[in-house]
Amino acid sequence: MTASVKPRLLLGLSGGIAAYKAAELTRLWVQDGLDVQVVMTRAACGFITPVTLQALSGKPVYVDMWDGRVGNNMAHIDLSRDRAAIVVAPASADMLAKLAHGLADDLLSTLCLARECPLFVAPAMNRQMWEHAATRRNIAQLQADGVFILGPASGDQACGEVGLGRMLEASEIAEDVLVELAQPKPLRGKRVLLTAGPTFEAIDAVRGVTNRSSGKMGFAVARAAREAGAEVTVVSGPTSLAVPRGCALIRVESAPQMFEAVMGEVERCHVFIGVAAVADYRPSAPQAHKIKKSDRTMTLELAPNPDILAHVAALPRAPFCVGFAAESRDLDRYAQDKRQRKRIPLLAANLVQTAIGSDDNELVLFDDAGRHVVARAPKLEQARALIARVVELMAHGAIAPR
Ligand code: C5P
Repeated sequence: MTASVKPRLLLGLSGGIAAYKAAELTRLWVQDGLDVQVVMTRAACGFITPVTLQALSGKPVYVDMWDGRVGNNMAHIDLSRDRAAIVVAPASADMLAKLAHGLADDLLSTLCLARECPLFVAPAMNRQMWEHAATRRNIAQLQADGVFILGPASGDQACGEVGLGRMLEASEIAEDVLVELAQPKPLRGKRVLLTAGPTFEAIDAVRGVTNRSSGKMGFAVARAAREAGAEVTVVSGPTSLAVPRGCALIRVESAPQMFEAVMGEVERCHVFIGVAAVADYRPSAPQAHKIKKSDRTMTLELAPNPDILAHVAALPRAPFCVGFAAESRDLDRYAQDKRQRKRIPLLAANLVQTAIGSDDNELVLFDDAGRHVVARAPKLEQARALIARVVELMAHGAIAPR
């Protein structure tokens, strides 16, 4: 899958309370422009009706092996032939057992056996069923067979018990499948370290200096790097966003903490991308307790923060470094100047007016070959274009030996 190609998916539901999450999963994928063909087992129809899934997917839902609507009457073969993957969510203990043993006694299990495409399963069951030796064996067998196992998560269960066996949330399954299916994977075996979000520089116990960066761009770059096959570590300042899936996350607050966290990881990484809006200054003498109000004018003394990106770029065995520049005017001039001053091969510049907090962005990439505009698009599309450029430049030899 290239950045703009949307895989066609077959979503299979087996019987479980988590079937309601499959409705949300269908909605998310369809909203994202994907074509989703839904197949349900009879047991799944006891939890949610095909009518709901048909309305959400915009396509007829198949349940019966002998459904005559498929032209050659071979639903069990034809329905998966134009699909990039089959995703079974929820995958009940019974369905996992069938898949592990190659049983094919209904449409969904037969489709899985007759498929040519990858298979993903999102287990959903009571914790005792998940922990049972038979399920452990079946999961091990499925893994050995190359099936992708998504989750399960731990937490409250519909039966009132607490433990492992909850199906992942729809958004998590949606993302994990698309990241895995994304092709090509030019960064497989490479480690990417990136900073994201704002930093918060304490003034006292409750107040601080910060900025309006949301972390969205950094998290989008993390996902794009994952799609390209990289192992990703994110050092993030305070943000309310969900943790990027499949990435190691180090949460920090201030620029000095971000600096320390980056220095602890940088030796191992091949690529460093500074997406964070690092505060340039911090209060020189933060107070441990809340500063009390008075009538007098107050002066806050600020000390410069370490420039993390410049420091990493100047390391003797520096990784391939990418910087961001958020400017409110004279984008080209400031961006070019910044790239040269920090001695980095690639810099992505954007106007703060269009970038901060928004879901869309317009990036201009600067490197030795010149300037390249990535037209306004969602931040994930922008991030993919940036990663594609990183890969191109690294292919020309700019890769740190690790
Ligand atoms: O100099 P300026 O802050 O505009 O540079 C922006 C770029 O440098 C971004 O990539 C940002 O993450 C990085 N930076 C940094 N440490 C700082 C300031 C900026 O890593 N103290």
